Amino acid sequence: MIDITPSQAQKMTAPAPFGLVSTVKDDGSDNLMAVSWWCFLTNHPHTLGVCLSKKGLSGSLIVKNGEFGLSLPGGELKEKALKCGMCSGRTADKPAEFGIELEKASVIGAKLVSGSRVAFECRLVNSFDVGDHVMYVGEIAAAHGDESVKQLYAFDGYGRLDTV
Ligand SMILES: Cc1cc2nc3c(=O)[nH]c(=O)nc-3n(C[C@H](O)[C@H](O)[C@H](O)COP(=O)(O)O)c2cc1C
Repeated sequence: MIDITPSQAQKMTAPAPFGLVSTVKDDGSDNLMAVSWWCFLTNHPHTLGVCLSKKGLSGSLIVKNGEFGLSLPGGELKEKALKCGMCSGRTADKPAEFGIELEKASVIGAKLVSGSRVAFECRLVNSFDVGDHVMYVGEIAAAHGDESVKQLYAFDGYGRLDTV
């Protein structure tokens, strides 16, 4: 092996399982944010973490609402899902503008992305300041899935999404 930078390592460890964090905005409309930095954390209780930049809107909505959805969208949402990582919910109504169909969750207010392989409903139980990002820890209150859907992964420094 040779010495590499952390940025090179991020690219070399792609593909990363890709998700869309769903939250509810102050006006009641829905927001979606692209995330590659998420992972399962614990089994007792079942938790997962999403690591969100302090610059975006979604983190503040997770704190306000105390909950969030995480959907792992299927391949047919490739282009639309990527767009959710290129603009903020502060200036865009992403689900409406990109034509992403949402469905009601069972126990949280945030909606889930239709046509996902897996979608989680999470209640915020902790958060950790980690420099320019915050890790939000969600307890999985409900999960839904469809084995026939091929999920998306992020490649090339998160510039491209595809199934594998
Ligand atoms: C493929 C992809 C993956 C991304 N993963 C993350 C991530 O894990 N964490 C993060 O903070 N931003 C990530 N982003 C960037 C955010 O999605 C982007 O900043 C977004 O505009 C934030 O939206 P919001 O302001 O509506 O919350 C990613 C973008 C793309 C295209």
